[in-house]
Amino acid sequence: MPPTNQSTPAFSPADVTVLFVLGGPGAGKGTQCARLVRDYHFTHLSAGDLLRAEQDRPGSQYGQLIKDCIKNGAIVPMEVTVALLEKAMRDTISATGNKKFLIDGFPRKMDQAFKFEEVVCPARLVLFYDCPEAVMERRLLERGKTSGRADDNEESIRKRFRTFVETSMPVVDHYDAENRVVKVDATPPPDQVYAETQVKLKKVLGDKL
Ligand code: C5P
Ligand code: MG
Repeated sequence: MPPTNQSTPAFSPADVTVLFVLGGPGAGKGTQCARLVRDYHFTHLSAGDLLRAEQDRPGSQYGQLIKDCIKNGAIVPMEVTVALLEKAMRDTISATGNKKFLIDGFPRKMDQAFKFEEVVCPARLVLFYDCPEAVMERRLLERGKTSGRADDNEESIRKRFRTFVETSMPVVDHYDAENRVVKVDATPPPDQVYAETQVKLKKVLGDKL
């Protein structure tokens, strides 16, 4: 067996395209990702959705940990999330052959960013949905009426906003300093946000994305 080299990512960015999709809770990441999937054949992987599925998986050793983190808007230890994402990418590639990924809601913390790019795949860019807290709060409370999510309530929302400002914005700032961020104003209605998303992404990635 050849020795394993920790610093070689599992996937080459020449072969696999990863766009990180960031923005505060309620910025509209999932809504925009759905449109990009429809029009440009990306596979959408939401870190939050993968964590919620793992939480509910019978026999998961991380169920309670994930549940507590989500309720408190805290970041789940990166080993868990990075492993779930890598598995989902492998499963997608072997099942469908699709190698274009929108990784939504990740990385939320600097350690996740470094770990993922080191062991899984360097990202092509970061798509950042910028939105004022008042707008996000209104959307989350509206979604909370039907989402059934344990964290779409006022107390959890306040904690999620705090985590976003203190822990996740530094990730956006880090990539911005490397000129790897495409920033979109997420305040307008979804169609308008999507129009701006397409224009700005095409400038960087070309017309076919
Ligand atoms: O992105 P979403 O709002 O679905 O995330 C819900 C929760 O999942 C976050 O508030 C956090 O507790 C957890 N999460 C995480 N690390 C990520 C993404 C989500 O810990 N990269
Ligand atoms: Mg989401």
